[in-house]
Amino acid sequence: MVGTKIDGVLVASSVKERVRKAASELKSQGIEPCLATILVGDNQASATYVKNKHKACAEVGILTKDHKLPATTSQEEMNELLGTLNSDNSIHGILVQLPLPKQLGEFETTSRISPIKDVDGLTPYNVGLLSLGKAILKACTPSGIIELFDYYNIDLEGKNIVIINRSNLLGKPLYHLLLQRNATVTTCHSKTKNLQKICQDSDIIITGVGNRTRFTLTPEMIRDGAIVIDVATTRHDEKLVGDCDFDKIIQKAAFASPVPGGVGPMTIAMLLKNTVTAASLSENIVRR
Ligand code: GUN
Repeated sequence: MVGTKIDGVLVASSVKERVRKAASELKSQGIEPCLATILVGDNQASATYVKNKHKACAEVGILTKDHKLPATTSQEEMNELLGTLNSDNSIHGILVQLPLPKQLGEFETTSRISPIKDVDGLTPYNVGLLSLGKAILKACTPSGIIELFDYYNIDLEGKNIVIINRSNLLGKPLYHLLLQRNATVTTCHSKTKNLQKICQDSDIIITGVGNRTRFTLTPEMIRDGAIVIDVATTRHDEKLVGDCDFDKIIQKAAFASPVPGGVGPMTIAMLLKNTVTAASLSENIVRR
């Protein structure tokens, strides 16, 4: 039996509608939610992601400040800009688009963002809160995946879930969010042994490898009725692809998310949500 397509565009639009209302309420209280983005260098994919984030902000009534820095930017220059944005009361969210050029440390950079402006949930403070189950600003892609599960009434309690990714933006924060829903979570990576067996034993597979030459999640690797969330986005033969072929995997899965149109729109929607939350935090409107 063919499974159900998880429609990220649809779910993202319902999140955006809620954000639009929240942004307009904040405006009526004299707060104009504003996101500052920092893009370093000329990575084309990153430039497109940032452009899409600005467009989405405009759609829901969030202001944006665009900071484009040369590829040669030093850590001191980055730190100075972050210091300025941290102390600017008109800026509520700060997003440094990753990856960064080699001379800039990812930790050195993201850990300087004020935790109440940390719309990516990457600062040590927010990562700590997440592991304690107390985070308000959570990483966008993982929280977007949780929204997808909730929208489709997919109960996570007691489920065996495998995450094929261990990054700070995806695998690690997602692990905590799933654990908080009482799932049994396994995190896999390039050194994992018996990946196929782990996938076959899982009720839900969340895959974010992003290298089709090295890895493809094939229907043979999943059990009948499994749920597959594909987080990868890579260019392959001029097309945007994930870790699996949606048309094949959906023949065996109960639910599967396509690429594009699955998790991608959710990442942006959750960024918008985090930005209005950060704007509320700045005025102490969010109750902890
Ligand atoms: N690069 C790829 N995904 C992301 C994301 O969610 N946030 C940031 N800051 N950079 C990214």
